[in-house]
Amino acid sequence: MPLFEKRNVLIRDEQPLLEYFIPENIMHREGQKQELAECLRPVTVGRKPRNAFLYGPCGTGKTLLVQWMLRELEGHTSRARTAYVNCWKRNTTHATLTEILSQLDIYVNYRQAATDLLKLVEKESEKKQLVVCLDEVDSLEGQEVLYDLARSGVGLVMVSNDAYALMEMDQRVKSSVNAEYIEFPAYKEGEIFEIIRERAKYGLVPGAIRQSELKMVARLADGDARIAIETLRRAAMAAEDKGEERITATHIRKAFGTTHLLRKTEALKKLNSHEKALYLLMEKHKKLNTKELWEKYIKADKKPASQRSYRNYMGHLAKLGLVKARGELTGREYELMA
Ligand SMILES: Nc1ncnc2c1ncn2[C@@H]1O[C@H](COP(=O)(O)OP(=O)(O)OP(=O)(O)O)[C@@H](O)[C@H]1O
Ligand SMILES: [Mg+2]
Repeated sequence: MPLFEKRNVLIRDEQPLLEYFIPENIMHREGQKQELAECLRPVTVGRKPRNAFLYGPCGTGKTLLVQWMLRELEGHTSRARTAYVNCWKRNTTHATLTEILSQLDIYVNYRQAATDLLKLVEKESEKKQLVVCLDEVDSLEGQEVLYDLARSGVGLVMVSNDAYALMEMDQRVKSSVNAEYIEFPAYKEGEIFEIIRERAKYGLVPGAIRQSELKMVARLADGDARIAIETLRRAAMAAEDKGEERITATHIRKAFGTTHLLRKTEALKKLNSHEKALYLLMEKHKKLNTKELWEKYIKADKKPASQRSYRNYMGHLAKLGLVKARGELTGREYELMA
């Protein structure tokens, strides 16, 4: 068989099928868009914005909406400058401040003290109102940077999977930050369907996927738009590789399996050492109630966390989709997700 024989093309443009593509139209997030705009609107008349805290499960459009909004804000007014930091990647005060400054075209030496970096950020914010998004804010090693930025008058848009991430911070940090809460609930199946139908329209050739198969992707994704888009892209690539005319249920099932596995690997990277210990126990026992797990955990972990942190950690595992939690308080039961 010739190596480069001509095959059926199913992918018209790969861009709309990639995670970091910013679509022109953000569907099903009108309320959240309005709420965030409300927080930032004061900037356009030269006043300080209100800080915002965006929370919700994975793949619910938080990062997308913030990035879209920061771009809109800069396009709309010359009074603001914006920066976006992923705190999982830049999880120290120093790294966060360096990243903000570099996005303002100020390059600093890694040996410069964090206090000096903060002064530079303050100086910039005096010239033009700064609005900074701190995505995955719960990954920060210390909370001090939130306090410092808020006190310097920088507008903050914080993002997390964990609704309690801010509430659990020091009172001093919480009151200086004083954020508006904006919830991003998981998408409904029909909403996911519309989101991927749009992506398919621009990313695939007409007829590459039938409505019933798109619906299947939406159902499997279970409220997570990232999983839906990634599954669609992988299924399209697999169908194209095989030279098929269209994407079938088999391609989708296989693509979903891989996507799910990748998601899990990514989620595992986000765990702290206590969460890893808890996850390993869950892997071993598959299903445990909260008391059983706690008892195994304090035996297994050399320096176990407090019972309260334990509950938070399990909440984090559940939000990342690694375990499923059922029931409340002492009756709570955890099950390992496939
Ligand atoms: N309403 C939407 N319309 C179009 N695309 C969307 C929408 N919501 C999410 N997406 C797409 O789904 C993917 C996941 O969205 P996003 O990264 O914003 O999720 P997230 O809420 O930040 O998730 P996580 O908490 O895991 O970081 C992205 O590729 C994004 O472009
Ligand atoms: Mg995100």
